[in-house]
Amino acid sequence: MTENGPNTWNSIYEKFQHERHSVWKEAATPWFVSKMAFLKELGANRILDAACGDARNTRAFAESGFQVVGVDFSEKALARAAKNTSTFKNVTLQQHNLESLPFSEEFDAIACDYVAVHLQNPKQVVTNFYNALKPKGLLLIEFLSTQDPACVAHGGEQNSFMSNGVFHQFYSESDARHLLKDFTILETTSVWHDDPGHGPDFPRNDHHQHHSIYVIAQK
Ligand SMILES: C[S@@+](CC[C@H](N)C(=O)[O-])C[C@H]1O[C@@H](n2cnc3c(N)ncnc32)[C@H](O)[C@@H]1O
Repeated sequence: MTENGPNTWNSIYEKFQHERHSVWKEAATPWFVSKMAFLKELGANRILDAACGDARNTRAFAESGFQVVGVDFSEKALARAAKNTSTFKNVTLQQHNLESLPFSEEFDAIACDYVAVHLQNPKQVVTNFYNALKPKGLLLIEFLSTQDPACVAHGGEQNSFMSNGVFHQFYSESDARHLLKDFTILETTSVWHDDPGHGPDFPRNDHHQHHSIYVIAQK
């Protein structure tokens, strides 16, 4: 099995046993929810949820009336996402690798949450995001930061590690700004937040904390 590829992620979604609708959290991420009014004011309508997982944020964008395209490379994630969004006509789900997205100037905004940490080729992904956005389009992206307890414990000099076949890369604010150098950075926010346990066979089955940097970047 190729590490950190769709099969790795399929097995993560398959072994999840809790009743809640998402493997990752109880609900959508508050920072993304808090930006929806701002996106509406700007007239944004078409949103890409990049690596949507089981559609926790996709659903919240759909509830707010946006046209949402959720993509992920894991078919097991997309099967869960389809269940979680089955009542929404304004959601489309597609299987893509973020390293080879087929979109050109289609989206008013891209939301990318809890994903940058797992990207081994983030430059290519960010270039694909740039191309997928309409002119002046917005990228709303979360980075797990170098202050995150997992990075402090295991990150080493590169601020990265592989755990159970899943790659983790943590970012300082200047790493994030450098990665997004072709965009204009409008806002950065750093936030401590809680994660629930993910289940008996997961490395993190206890309640734990993360530290994230959220960025709004304009094309
Ligand atoms: C930690 S989950 C987060 C899911 C969702 N964004 C959320 O916040 O609930 C990471 C997701 O990224 C997906 N993923 C990782 N690398 C990817 C890639 N290169 N292309 C597409 N999906 C990817 C995984 O399948 C998984 O669903």
